[in-house]
Amino acid sequence: MTAVIERQRVVARPTGGALGADIEGVDLAQPLTQETTAAIKDAWAQNLVLRFRGQRLSDDDLMRFSRQFGELDWAPVAATTDAPEGRDYVMVVSNVVENGKPIGQLGAYEAVWHTDMSYVAEPPQASALYSLEVPESGGDTGFSNMYLALERLPAELRRGIEGRVCRHDASRNSAGELRRGYVDAPDPSQTVGADHPLVRTHPVTGKKALFLGRRRNAYIPGLPLAESEALLDALWDHASRPELAWYQQWRPGDLVLWDNRCVMHRRDAFDPAARRVMHRTQIKGDRPY
Ligand code: SIN
Repeated sequence: MTAVIERQRVVARPTGGALGADIEGVDLAQPLTQETTAAIKDAWAQNLVLRFRGQRLSDDDLMRFSRQFGELDWAPVAATTDAPEGRDYVMVVSNVVENGKPIGQLGAYEAVWHTDMSYVAEPPQASALYSLEVPESGGDTGFSNMYLALERLPAELRRGIEGRVCRHDASRNSAGELRRGYVDAPDPSQTVGADHPLVRTHPVTGKKALFLGRRRNAYIPGLPLAESEALLDALWDHASRPELAWYQQWRPGDLVLWDNRCVMHRRDAFDPAARRVMHRTQIKGDRPY
């Protein structure tokens, strides 16, 4: 077995879009050599999102692969729907209902642009999403390059966010559902969540990225609410431009790893009658600076 693994050659093929690359020649169900892991990390730093097609992974395989990048983080607190209780390292993202109970989170809705768990003090540095069942159409996941968003930010907006933080709302998930244990706070200046710099430095690449996290109920402390809203609207208009994004069209057996420190993502809605079952891990990160 060792000989086979040592012959694995990592090939990274960029998507040609604003970010993302396919990684070929790696079977993630096998332990990876240090060389293979180092090559994957290099490709990840360059391409921000990596896709590994044709994988057959158990949750243990998914967790073992994810641990190559750091300690696993707990899955986010579920919404107030009757999603499974309890917390785990593997979050099930699914619209499937079995015996009258959803087996996972986020349903079949659109999930708006966001960074995973940006509302906590130390958001996960990365997430890995593995597809078990996918609908024939819909449910594509978009990724957006926040290095590029900052590079291309008009000078006036850049000046407007210099030295400022944003408060990231913890109460609702990216599908708009209220999380367990939270109350609705419709006034963004009363938002409960973590404050993070609007421009963050990536701890590995040293590059700066725009860090918006999530739009709903976001607030820039120190600004009157109307000014905060206007500035955030302008930033989000800019950051959601299609030329910053690349879309993943899922096949069963795809594993996609993204860097939450410089990437946002969203998901298209899909037919609620179709089945979509994905397993996600998240890898602990540091306090953004
Ligand atoms: C997520 O936000 O992690 C879910 C993305 C997806 O379902 O494609």
